Amino acid sequence: MASTCVVGLQWGDEAKGKIVDLLCDQHDTVVRYQGGANAGHTVVVDAITYKLSLIPTGILRPGIACVIGNGVVIHPPALLREVETLSKQGVDFGDRLHVSDRAHVIMPWHLAEERLTEESASAADHLGTTRRGIGPCYRDKVGRVHGVRVGDLYHPRQFREHLERIVEFKNRLLTAMLPDFEPLDANAVADEYLDYAERLRPYVCDATSWLHNAVQSNRRLLFEGAQGSLLDIDHGSYPYVTSSNSSAAGIAAGSGIPTRHIDRWIGIVKAYTTRVGGGPFPTELHDEIGERIRRIGREYGTVTGRPRRCGWFDSVAARYSARVSGSTEIAVMLLDVLSGLKEVRVAVAYEDENGKAVNDMPGQLANLERCRPVFETMPGWDDDLTGVRSWSDLPEAARNYVKFLGKQIGVPVSIVSVGPERSQTIVLKEGDGK
Ligand code: IMP
Repeated sequence: MASTCVVGLQWGDEAKGKIVDLLCDQHDTVVRYQGGANAGHTVVVDAITYKLSLIPTGILRPGIACVIGNGVVIHPPALLREVETLSKQGVDFGDRLHVSDRAHVIMPWHLAEERLTEESASAADHLGTTRRGIGPCYRDKVGRVHGVRVGDLYHPRQFREHLERIVEFKNRLLTAMLPDFEPLDANAVADEYLDYAERLRPYVCDATSWLHNAVQSNRRLLFEGAQGSLLDIDHGSYPYVTSSNSSAAGIAAGSGIPTRHIDRWIGIVKAYTTRVGGGPFPTELHDEIGERIRRIGREYGTVTGRPRRCGWFDSVAARYSARVSGSTEIAVMLLDVLSGLKEVRVAVAYEDENGKAVNDMPGQLANLERCRPVFETMPGWDDDLTGVRSWSDLPEAARNYVKFLGKQIGVPVSIVSVGPERSQTIVLKEGDGK
């Protein structure tokens, strides 16, 4: 057993891709188990920039197999575009990409339905999604009647019949509700998707069975969570969440692999907090410090380009999500971004409007919105950290800050990242973070 889970403990964009890339050396297979092309990361290898969205980062490492599990939702043109772009950049797919035939497919009406909810919603209902059709696809998955799975694309007759029923329903719904919606033609959609299916055929398989065999052959799996635990549909700040289990809770359901095969549980946090889209954010900064973090940390969405909301580290939220995701070690990313601040602050608790302590992350939106963070203020540091390679070379204030985060989360810090390059990583030794 030497399988690992890497999940974000905040609202996504914790730079998980870098840790997954680093850990590829110790694993044979990278597995995505939820989400879709709403995720996105940019990886720079030998001065070439690769953009990945659906395909696990492991594809950039020769010899690493990549699995897109049953829990992922796939927009075939997006996946094909990604394969094509990466191939043109010299990535050799060989037989390394495995796409689950149980994964659900994002269809044209899902994009229209998302437009409908996001455009016609009152400001209060506006979730600020990535508009990739993720939510509507998961809605049809759970609803069952209108779901389309990758495997369905290889049964053309039944697929066409299924599509006729769905398109008839969706056309009625969408023409009534979206003024500029052009009714879809079931046959044309079927032709288009059957064509995608042929191009995807080399990759599609029973990924659950593939993974079971991998476990049996002692392959070391690396489960890569997309988004972050606070965006989890069940455990996140509902309804301002994504539509999948983006915490470690999604692994078993989204891959078919029981989590008893995992022995390393890494929770990833930024040294501060960001969030993109709507929803509560107790430690959000609306001042020049927030702007500075956004500028220095280049905090703009990879998929949508939206500026990310920035704020102080929130220990209440991270403590909660570390518990939900079972983290046994923490990687603190982007510590270098905080250099140059006279003071750094960490929310250690919340209190409500009456000053009453709130110790647990509230499950109700109304309660969370009422919470005010209680901050602990610590001295900052001026030094540029990007060239630091060892724990002892970090300025004392930065070391104290990292130790404080570990204590507040209640889980030891094992990795500190001070820049995007692989070399800009400090792996802590026994006793370092104490
Ligand atoms: P959806 O996943 O497109 O439905 O968007 C739902 C919420 O999750 C929105 O607030 C998005 O901004 C957020 N979200 C989705 N994917 C990511 C991500 O990869 N990083 C950060 N936020 C994300």
